[in-house]
Amino acid sequence: MALRNVLKNDEPILRLKAKEVKTFDENLGVLIDDMIQTMNHEEGVGLAAPQIGITRQICVISEDGETVYELINPVISKKSGEQYSIEGCLSVPGVRGTVKRPQTITVDFFDRKGEKKAMEVTDFLAIIFCHEIDHLSGILFTDHLKEDEPPQKKYKKSRKNA
Ligand code: CO
Repeated sequence: MALRNVLKNDEPILRLKAKEVKTFDENLGVLIDDMIQTMNHEEGVGLAAPQIGITRQICVISEDGETVYELINPVISKKSGEQYSIEGCLSVPGVRGTVKRPQTITVDFFDRKGEKKAMEVTDFLAIIFCHEIDHLSGILFTDHLKEDEPPQKKYKKSRKNA
């Protein structure tokens, strides 16, 4: 395993639409393991492949540093409700801002073996999933900052960057 360099700010790769993964081989596993190691090293709760310069639809997520979710070619098939979160991003150091996200989402994705899966997540996990899946379309959380001002009590504070 190896630590990867996290791209920041105006790096053009962060703005590209990531390509679908079609080959589920050993190299994919190595890449995902590197992403997990890098996420943990950076103390993030999520990392998307474009953030390390790989324009593929892959992201890794861990809310607690133990349970890790690996999403390949993820698609949000259902969303409901809304919540506001104060987010940060490993690729946009020093910036935090309030983003409106769905409360609950269903995601269709593939695992590293190429098996199709679906999962429903809610609350903070839904926030991280949306943040990471946005990265695969070249969207940064700062793009959402101009949305409506939220009612104060609905804030949910994200402790870490993704
Ligand atoms: Co991010």
